[in-house]
Amino acid sequence: MSASPVPAGTPVQSYKLRRGRMGIERQEALARHLPRFAVPAGPGRLDLQHLFGNDHPVVLEIGSGMGDATLAMAQADPGTNVLAAEVHTPGIGALLQGIVELGLENVRLLEGDGRELLDARIDSGALAGVRVYFPDPWPKAKHHKRRLVQPEFVALVADRLAPGGTLHCATDWEPYAEQMVDVVAADPRFALDPDRSRPDWRPLTRFEKRGLALGHVVTDVLAHRVDPGRG
Ligand SMILES: C[S@@+](CC[C@H](N)C(=O)[O-])C[C@H]1O[C@@H](n2cnc3c(N)ncnc32)[C@H](O)[C@@H]1O
Repeated sequence: MSASPVPAGTPVQSYKLRRGRMGIERQEALARHLPRFAVPAGPGRLDLQHLFGNDHPVVLEIGSGMGDATLAMAQADPGTNVLAAEVHTPGIGALLQGIVELGLENVRLLEGDGRELLDARIDSGALAGVRVYFPDPWPKAKHHKRRLVQPEFVALVADRLAPGGTLHCATDWEPYAEQMVDVVAADPRFALDPDRSRPDWRPLTRFEKRGLALGHVVTDVLAHRVDPGRG
């Protein structure tokens, strides 16, 4: 029997790499500005204060897509640092172009797997928040294991969040929304917010607009990191 190429316990990829083209302007922005805004290559834990040049709270967004919502939220809240992870290169290019055009100082980028970053490069208790907006829903039952928001992921987020930090997920796929609520509720380190509506400080995302146009219902799942030992 041949050995599996994937070590036991390795999470399945939560994304499918897509092809995409970038215009020349974005390619140039990537080449010129990426070194200033990109997360330095590992291995090793990231010094977030050094990365952003200040000690403001840091929020990790996994799957920032084309970056529209990321930019709007970073611009509206310059006192929060946003670390955006996206595997899709054209999305990174669009986000970078937006950062430069808007003159934002509080965004840094990882072109790569945000879950791996969280696991390997972020210290326990280092983050003020984790955002997962419209993760790939993987609707077929045989693909459910590829969904990002699983018990292991939620446990990892709980470890990396500071007390009082927030996990904020949103989806337009109702069965995935139920899964999100179930797995977050099952982790005693989180207190779930009962409100499932979009907070006004979260702008509509590109994928969300597409879902709404199809008549999908959007669910926000917001939870706070608590200390289960304290009453
Ligand atoms: C359905 S899109 C949503 C994008 C954006 N948040 C929005 O709402 O418009 C999901 C995105 O997550 C990215 N993604 C999925 N898993 C990821 C991971 N582990 N790390 C980084 N990006 C990931 C995909 O490449 C894709 O761009």
